[in-house]
Parts: sequence; C-alpha cells; structure tokens
Amino acid sequence: MKKIKLRVNGVWRELIVDSETVLLDLLREDLRLTGAKQSCDRKGQCGACTVVVNGKAVRSCLTRVADLEGADIITIEGLGTPDNPHLIQEAFVLAGAIQCGFCTPGLIMATKALLDANPDPTMEEIKQALRRNLCRCTGYKKIIEAVQLAGRFIRGEVSPEEVRPGPDQGTMGVSHPRPSALAKACGTAYFTADYKIKGALELAVLHSTVPHARIVAVDSSQAQAMPGVAGVLTAADIKGTNILKFIVADRPVLCKDKVRYIGDPILAVAAETREQAEAALKHVKVKLEPLPVIDSPEASLAEYALRIHEDIPNLCYDQPQIKGDAEAALRQSAAVVEARFKTQINHQAPLEPEATLAYWEKGDTEGDDQLVIIGRSISIHHHLAMLQSALGWENMRYIEAFSGGQFGIKIDIISEGIAGAAAIHFKRPVRYIPSLAESMLMTSKRHPFDMRVKLAADQEGNLTAYCNDFLVDNGAYYSIGHVVIYRSLLMLSGSYNIPNVAARGRLLYTNNPWGSAARGAGPPQTNFALECAMDMLADKLGMDPFDFRLRNSLKPGQNKSTGRVVQEWPFPDLMEAMRPHYQRAVKEAAAFRSDKTKRGVGLGTGAFGIGNPGDASIAAAELDPDGGVSVYAAAADPGEGNDSMLTQLTAEFMRIPLDRVRLHTRDTGNTAASGPAAGSRITYMLGSALLRALEQLKAAMEETGARTSTELDAAGKPKRYVGRKKNEDAGPLDPKTGQGPSFESQVHAVQMVELEVDMETGKVKILKMTTAVDAGPVIHPQNLTGQLEGGMDMGVGFALREQYVAGTTKDWLTFKFPTIQDNFDMEIIIQETPRPKGPLGATGVGEMCLVPTAPAVINAIKNATGVWICELPATPEKIKAALAAGG
Ligand code: FES
Ligand code: FES
Repeated sequence: MKKIKLRVNGVWRELIVDSETVLLDLLREDLRLTGAKQSCDRKGQCGACTVVVNGKAVRSCLTRVADLEGADIITIEGLGTPDNPHLIQEAFVLAGAIQCGFCTPGLIMATKALLDANPDPTMEEIKQALRRNLCRCTGYKKIIEAVQLAGRFIRGEVSPEEVRPGPDQGTMGVSHPRPSALAKACGTAYFTADYKIKGALELAVLHSTVPHARIVAVDSSQAQAMPGVAGVLTAADIKGTNILKFIVADRPVLCKDKVRYIGDPILAVAAETREQAEAALKHVKVKLEPLPVIDSPEASLAEYALRIHEDIPNLCYDQPQIKGDAEAALRQSAAVVEARFKTQINHQAPLEPEATLAYWEKGDTEGDDQLVIIGRSISIHHHLAMLQSALGWENMRYIEAFSGGQFGIKIDIISEGIAGAAAIHFKRPVRYIPSLAESMLMTSKRHPFDMRVKLAADQEGNLTAYCNDFLVDNGAYYSIGHVVIYRSLLMLSGSYNIPNVAARGRLLYTNNPWGSAARGAGPPQTNFALECAMDMLADKLGMDPFDFRLRNSLKPGQNKSTGRVVQEWPFPDLMEAMRPHYQRAVKEAAAFRSDKTKRGVGLGTGAFGIGNPGDASIAAAELDPDGGVSVYAAAADPGEGNDSMLTQLTAEFMRIPLDRVRLHTRDTGNTAASGPAAGSRITYMLGSALLRALEQLKAAMEETGARTSTELDAAGKPKRYVGRKKNEDAGPLDPKTGQGPSFESQVHAVQMVELEVDMETGKVKILKMTTAVDAGPVIHPQNLTGQLEGGMDMGVGFALREQYVAGTTKDWLTFKFPTIQDNFDMEIIIQETPRPKGPLGATGVGEMCLVPTAPAVINAIKNATGVWICELPATPEKIKAALAAGG
C-alpha cells in the first residue's frame, strides 16, 4: 500500500492505494467517473479508457495509480458538462462524430491532449494521435473532421454558434445535433456497466471450451465454500423453460446435459465481488464427455451425422427459389460463368462488451416486486417475453441502456437470461459484466455461406439465368435462422432483371458458433457471389462491368427473383451519377505505373429490401401540457440515429421546436412493441406508424383549436393517439418455388472501390470508396453519411481482414479491428427519390452501406491483379497464393 496525492478534474485527493490498482478502476469504481469506458479487457487495445495525465493522453487501464503521485488528471467529466461543454465536445457533436458514443470520451480526451500541444494538426498528426482509439460505427471520417473542427474552434476561426444549425433552417434535411450526442460527449450517458447497484451480486460464468460434449458431472462444492460466494447457479435452478426461444426452442440459458459450441454457458458463480466470483469459478469441476464434432455444413448433411438437437434435423430449413427455367436458359445462353464463393464466420464487433443488470423494484406487497433487466436489447418487448418464459417469472420489465453499437448482435440475448435467472434464484440484484473475450465467445456471429453459382447472358449482354445453391452454417442454435435465408432469397437478384432463377438455400446446425443477425443478415453474403459473378460474366463477354450492370438494371414493371413486380427502381439514375467517377477512376488506374504495385477499380451494387412482408410497427404520440409532443415507441438507438429521426419527423409534422419533442423509447413499461431496431426498418416502419399517430393528434387539435393537452382535455378529446404501419403484402414464400411477397421498399446503392495491391506481399491498400445511394428524402444528412461511412469501413473489414475463429479470436488485435490508420478517402453521392409509402418519402439505409462493399473490393483486386479471391476474407496470404498460382 502507498499513500499518494493527485488531482482529478481540479480537485486534490489523498488516497491509499495498492501497487496493482489502475487508474481506470479508481475513476470508475471509487470516484464513480464512468465517462472513461473499457472495451478490450484492459489490454490497451481500444483507447476507450483514455484520459489526460499531466497533459498527455494515457490509457487509464494501463496506468498504475501508485505511479501518479502529484499527477494532474483530467477526465471527460472534467472537460465540460452538457450545460457548459468544452469546444472539443461541441465539435464532436456538431461534426456528427458520435453514433453509439462508447468510444467518444476516449477520443475526445486524446484530441484534448493533441490540440493542447498542437492546435493545428495535419491529417497525419491526427491519425497518429488517435491511432490507439477504436471506433466501430463511424469509419473514422467524421472523427477526423471533428478534430479539425475543434482545432478551428480553438484557433478562433469559427464558433459553435456559426456551425450549429439554427431553428430557421427547418427540421427535415438538416443535421441537428442528435438528442443524446452531448451527453455522450460529456460522459454523462449511462451504458449498462456504468450503473452500480448497492448490494448487487457479481457473476462469473463457466463456458464450454469444447464444441460438443455431454455434461456428465458438476462439482461446485469447493467454489460454494469460497469467500464472498453466494452460490452457484445451474440449469436446475432455473424455474422456467430455461430456453431462450427466438423462433425455435433450442438455446438454453445455461446448458443442462450437453454443450454444443465453444462458448456455451454451463453455470454461473455469484459472489459479492467479481474477483471473488472469478476466483471461485476456478474451483468448479465439470466433467465433459466429448461427442463427435460437426464442424461444417457438409458434415452436418452427411447421411449418418449425429443430430445436434435430438428432436430437430440438422438440415433445419430448406427453401428453393424457382423463376422461369434456369436450366434451359443456361443451355441457350451465349456465355455462362460458374464459381464457388465462401464467406467467413464474422463477429459484429460492437465496442461495448455484453453487460446486464437485474434488480428488484419494490411493489406494494412482497409478491409484487418487479424484476427489472437493464441491457442493450434492440427488441425489448420480444426479449422480455423470451425472458419471462425462460426464467418462469412474469412480473418483469426491460430497460435499454445506451449501448455501444450492436450491428445485429443484439437481435438476440444471452447475458440477460443468466443475470435474470441469478437475480430470481438468489433474490438479490445482480450485475453480469462479462469480459470482451467472454462476450465474443458467447454471442452470435455472421453466418458463413458456401455458394455454388452460375450466371449467364445472351450475346448482347442481357442476363438470362442465375443459379445459386447455398449452404448456410447456422452453428449450434437457430436464433433468427431461416430469416437469413429468406432475406437472401427476397433480395437474390440484387439490382437486376434476371428472367430465370434457380436457387436453393439450406440451413444447417453445426457445432460452430451460432449465427444470427449481422448488419445485412444474408444479402451481404449472397450479393458478394452475385456481384463477383457479374464481373466474371462481363469479362467473358468482353463488356465493361459498368455498362453490363446498367444494361441489366431492373425496370419498373419487371419482377425480382420472388416474382414480385416493382413499381419504382431508381437504380439506373444512381449508375449515371456514378459514371463520371468511374470514368475518372478507370483513367487514373490505367495511367498508374509501378512494378511492385498494381491499381484496380471495382464496382458493387445492391438493392436492399426494407419492410418485410407482413412487418408491422406501432407508435403513440401524446400532446404535452406545454404544447410539446411525447413520443412512445420501443425504438432502440444503438447509434444509427433513430432518436434524431423520431424527433425531426415529429417536429416537422407538428411544426414545433425540436426541444419540445420528448422521446420515451427504452422501457417496456411505457411503450408497445414496435419491432426490432433491425433490418434497416425503423425509419420506414416506425417512422410511418409515428406519422399516423401524429396525423390523428393534429386532426384533433385542428378540430378543437387546442394547443395544449389541457385544452384538448377540455374539448373532450384524448391527448394520446396510436399509429400503426403494416406491410400488406404478407405471407411466406411458396415453399416449392420461393415465389411470393417481397419488401415494400428498397434502398439502392452503387459502390466503387479504388485500391492498390502489393504484388509481392499481397497486401491491399484501399485508396478511396465512392458510394452513390438513394434512400429517399434525407432527414438528417450527417446520420445518413455516418451510416454509409461506417458501413464502408465495416464492409472493407469483412472483405479483407475480419474473421472469427472460436477459441482463437479473443480480443481486438486477433479480430483485426480497423483503426484510424486504416481509414481511407470516402465520397458519397446522394439521390433522393421519394418512396410513396415512406414517412415523408423516406426509407432506411443502415445495412445497405455494406451490401455491395465486399464484391466491389474483390472485383477491384481482380481488376488490379487478374486473380479472383472467391473466399473471404481476402487476406494477403490468399492473394499471394492466388498470384503464385497464376490466378
Ligand atoms: S480499456 Fe484501456 S485501452 Fe481498452
Ligand atoms: S461511435 Fe465509435 S464505437 Fe460507436
């Protein structure tokens, strides 16, 4: 122990500390300054914990407090507050650099240290200063712009007032600061792990280290007797079904007799502190009897393969799609290409690790106590119902905390079940804050696809037929399972008119990590195959891939692979908008000369469906006493900007100031089920439902002349109105032909990648990406471009680097998380064709931004080098091997 004195945010403090305590723990646990976050298990990889010590940016997870005698420490809370923010905090808000906001405090503190030393840094100096701060949402472009804007503020060249949009600029199409941005910039927005609950038990969970085994015996007697331990929770202690059923009842909260993948949770030790729980966990003995491991869809399909779930076949979904006669068309076509494409298991990689709190809210009588779960669900009502059934406890509520990104991972839940079960069993509040390694281990992943493809065209270059027979590795549990295949088939023909289609999607259980939603959920995989095949076929026909795509665009009146005729298809205009950029890029690449490096240009396109067949949403709007409007809708905003959308739509429609719109979106207690914040659906579906509620409210106000809730009340009218939106084109695809209903709306995109390949090392450097997108009238330009930039960055990671290997991928280094130094030039072209059924004409964009990216990258690599990489990710090793093999 050592007595030291240090200053935190201007206040001198005397402390007695041991030699091990790190600054992050002092700040978060002792001083309750939770603005500094932790993502990387204190390995120094994420920068979310960055604070300024003696003028320098330091990672507080690596800084021992004992070494800080006399130090001057500034945290995000010491920089400014929402009432009086620092110029850097204002700059991050106004530049649109804050999406989920988990990385934001660390980035702002790193910026503070940089600008104090150098108020006018170059791009390279910014990248150098922020090289240790990770962000998954933004693609870093707006972060760089925020640092530049902060520099301008500090140098007095411009003021926040001059940059901030004023009320006279209107609401639609204006980048008003997001409702939560300032709180995130000032470290006052609470993420799940930021809450501390007095008397809460902490959990340590045992996960399977093998992919398939029978649980033969569990001996926790030694652990039970260890200091601070309240007990050990097993499946036998869970009173409900113990099954977290999303669609199929197959995934246990805690495994009872079998483990089915590396990471399956077996039991939880509950103790007074996390250290005690972790120490005790080491003394639990579990005997596992290995079972044969099914490690691929082929193995799962084998005739005598062991069933992973006794009562469900390994082939758990099989859906064909037949339009026209593809076989006959292939025979008659002038050119046919054939290839096999594979995509990898990938982690969605939100920066915030999994975390859940469960506590009891006192009822009138003891039996009325309500179990409250705080987590980062994007579908709070559905997840609440899953928990009620799994845990056998009805009186429960779910509250969504601010969440550090999700990208599909939170369409399903894990830690909520374990924390909730422990809270019920021990009748205590519980905090379950898993490490990053543990979070990676237990969460769902992007499904790997194995696709055998044929694409054909006639002499003139008109597409004639497309076949795609694809196997999808679903891993150990179903989760959203067939939805991924269904979505892939609904969008199978992409942007094009393909008269004959023969496809089949099969979903197979294996002992790999379980698949679920991951930004795009299916179409990024199938579109990779289609868009690469488009380039292969253009090559074979001797056509330019740009002209070939444009020629084959679907047109209004023609139909998609589902047979549904489209009414609007603004894709050709997008291609025309891209044309001059493409011509410039091709010219520059042709003029580039180097023996060592080759330059290439690649295209990818996509038409992404929004508003599933039969999808429905609901929202309520209520007039407030001051004439403002409260919006009630269960609409998570893990970073996309849903809060902005709801606020600006309401303000625009009701002609009220933005600060009179009050959102209630995070609690099952005061909202109805509006559907998940997934599938890019919130703007289109929930925005439409909200407008219908507002229309009724406005009509009542106009009829009565009321301006406030009191006046409406006096006029005998309700102050609250409910709006609903439902896609009338409903029902499943035909099980034999895959023909049937489709999405109500589409967002269209064309992406172009310019890159260089080092012919010796196989390393790829992205020089620039250009995205042209049509998502209808833009509500918030910064949020739109922010989604596109983040999506491009994520799509490049999917194409070139990222892969999840169970047991090996344990942190952000092994995952190959993109840093600011991977950032590349990005340009965005926006086209705004109004959608007849969208809210004020708008539709969504959150996933489209990476649907064309991987094929655009792979097509550009082929353009540069002449070799095809048909299995993602296109690592330097694969490119080198392909070059050595001569393509
Ligand atoms: S928590 Fe300190 S760098 Fe990640
Ligand atoms: S805004 Fe950076 S991780 Fe989400």
